[in-house]
Amino acid sequence: MNPFDQLIRDRESCRKFNGKAVSKEDITTIITAARLAPSACNGQPWHFIAITDEETKAKLAGHMQAFNAKAGAMIVMIEEKSNITSTIGSKIKHQDYAQMDMGIVAAYLSLAATSLGISNCIIGWFDEAKTKALLQLPKKKRVRLILSLGYTDETNVRPKIRKKMDEIVTFIE
Ligand SMILES: Cc1cc2nc3c(=O)[nH]c(=O)nc-3n(C[C@H](O)[C@H](O)[C@H](O)COP(=O)(O)O)c2cc1C
Repeated sequence: MNPFDQLIRDRESCRKFNGKAVSKEDITTIITAARLAPSACNGQPWHFIAITDEETKAKLAGHMQAFNAKAGAMIVMIEEKSNITSTIGSKIKHQDYAQMDMGIVAAYLSLAATSLGISNCIIGWFDEAKTKALLQLPKKKRVRLILSLGYTDETNVRPKIRKKMDEIVTFIE
């Protein structure tokens, strides 16, 4: 299997972390890869807060689903203002390119972590107001997603449950 196919098959959402810490070095490698993600007009409208500090991590986990308490680190993804071309483009085309960019960079972070053997889960279900208060972020900023990272004692990758190809694709030949 080619390495990309293998990577996307290996990636799955981990909800059973074992509490082992994730190193700052690995987090740096993950973000260095995600930095190369594409974004509308190359606006790169993101800022990451990487948390390994036990106390902050525990407090943040308190604003998330319980399983996150055993994550070894978290990357909080904050949407920043994009550049002028992306912002104007969004208005003209009635799209939210910055929010799309955040989803793409989340996928890159997740895959980069997987490539290092670090289990992870993209988290959209968290208390945004409490997260911003904890991290002393201005109220008007948006925290779009959090990536929980860590290790698991699970050994098997679960079968992927996905819609069938003919439900999601229309070929015009
Ligand atoms: C934008 C987004 C938000 C998500 N939020 C959560 C979440 O809050 N909690 C959770 O357990 N999983 C969350 N997930 C993981 C999805 O549930 C998961 O990707 C999906 O069920 C497919 O399973 P798999 O990742 O194991 O292949 C989220 C995924 C994405 C892309």
